Amino acid sequence: MDGAALRPERVADDDLVPFARAVNRHFYNSEADDDVLPWVEALSTGYRAWWTRTDGRVAGNLGVIETTVSLPGGGDVPLAAVTAVGVAQTMRRRGVMAGLMAACLEEAVDHDEPLAGLFASEAAIYGRFGFGVAAPQVSYRVDRTRVRFVDPVDDRLVQEATPEQAHATWPRLHDRIRAERPASVAKHPGQWMLGITRDPPGWRGGASARRLVEVPGRGYASYRVKEHFDGLLPAGSVRLLELLATDPEAEAALWQHVLDLDLTTTVEVSFRPVDDTLPHLISDRHALRVTEAPPLYLRILDVPRILSSRAYRGRGTAVLEVVDPAGYAQGRWRLEVDEGGAACTPTDRPATVVLPVQSLTGIVFGGIRATSLAAARQLAERRPGAAAELDHLLAVDRAPWTTMEF
Ligand SMILES: CC(C)(COP(=O)(O)OP(=O)(O)OC[C@H]1O[C@@H](n2cnc3c(N)ncnc32)[C@H](O)[C@@H]1OP(=O)(O)O)[C@@H](O)C(=O)NCCC(=O)NCCS
Repeated sequence: MDGAALRPERVADDDLVPFARAVNRHFYNSEADDDVLPWVEALSTGYRAWWTRTDGRVAGNLGVIETTVSLPGGGDVPLAAVTAVGVAQTMRRRGVMAGLMAACLEEAVDHDEPLAGLFASEAAIYGRFGFGVAAPQVSYRVDRTRVRFVDPVDDRLVQEATPEQAHATWPRLHDRIRAERPASVAKHPGQWMLGITRDPPGWRGGASARRLVEVPGRGYASYRVKEHFDGLLPAGSVRLLELLATDPEAEAALWQHVLDLDLTTTVEVSFRPVDDTLPHLISDRHALRVTEAPPLYLRILDVPRILSSRAYRGRGTAVLEVVDPAGYAQGRWRLEVDEGGAACTPTDRPATVVLPVQSLTGIVFGGIRATSLAAARQLAERRPGAAAELDHLLAVDRAPWTTMEF
């Protein structure tokens, strides 16, 4: 069966459980009720589910979380957060996913969402659909035995948090961090439920139940601990799920807490910003093994809305010729930034740069420099110095950061 001939359909609310079982099946995960029902419950509102079916079986599935994402300067715009993309093993490489993706992007435009976003488990897949890296991020594997804090704070500030306390105050802290960071995705209420309250044993990967700690009103962290003994010596590991704080003392206290857990020797964490605090808190940087984490990918669907809604530190004008075979961002756009704000309009004037829509994402959210893309031939200057001018115009105060995957 040609997958491209299958028509994607929106999944009815009554079918969310078979949809969720298909998602887990296609990711090789458990289809048991305990592993499927919690997230059906959590995402039953503000979630658009798509599937394609053939002979009564699910050939492919894709979900969209209706959320928002921050722009440089703190404003938020609607985001179609694409998730749960999977295709049955026997139906792969026949265009099933391509059909689902095209349908969900069209629907995003109908919903007035100027951006779609995703985390990719296979990085090579999504450029062809116009997704580009918006927030490069890093992962750490920390050798806890080498960690010394340069200027320790009193980590008795850190307290255990009940799920009720976490629900009451953590979303507000998350929003404060998002306002300071571009490309920071808001958490859907269901994601808070899944990240705080729901914790079926099948989700723990052999580690402990999730631990919740906080510096009340200032920061929080959640993590799991996996017990391990090397002979008789303790060699457990911490899987840090999320850590953020609104002030330096609270942030240092939380890092000290997770890097000082008895019976563990390593701490692993992903989805950290490239300008993170941790490397500056410790005296021996060789305690950190830093690797590239999966970045947040965004797909710009409405160029004028995104470019005229973000804030700018610099002033200036650029003419961007954006290449987008799908058409959504295609065109020549004049960006003019002055004291009165930013305007982005279609233009016939000569372009100063030409770039594919994937490259536009990186420079608009400040995670990637136009001069780096020019050096990599992912952006062509039509006027000498235009890439450096864009770097100046589009510079951001803090690196983009989305605190966790969706
Ligand atoms: C990844 C997955 C969803 C792709 O679905 P699919 O229906 O086979 O994809 P399509 O046939 O529609 O492929 C569309 C394009 O993507 C490419 N592509 C698909 N999977 C790819 C992969 N793993 N790596 C690189 N390219 C890939 C195809 O070659 C095709 O390219 P083309 O446009 O040049 O023809 C499917 O293989 C799958 O379910 N994998 C397991 C779950 C998973 O990894 N999900 C992705 C989460 S990010």
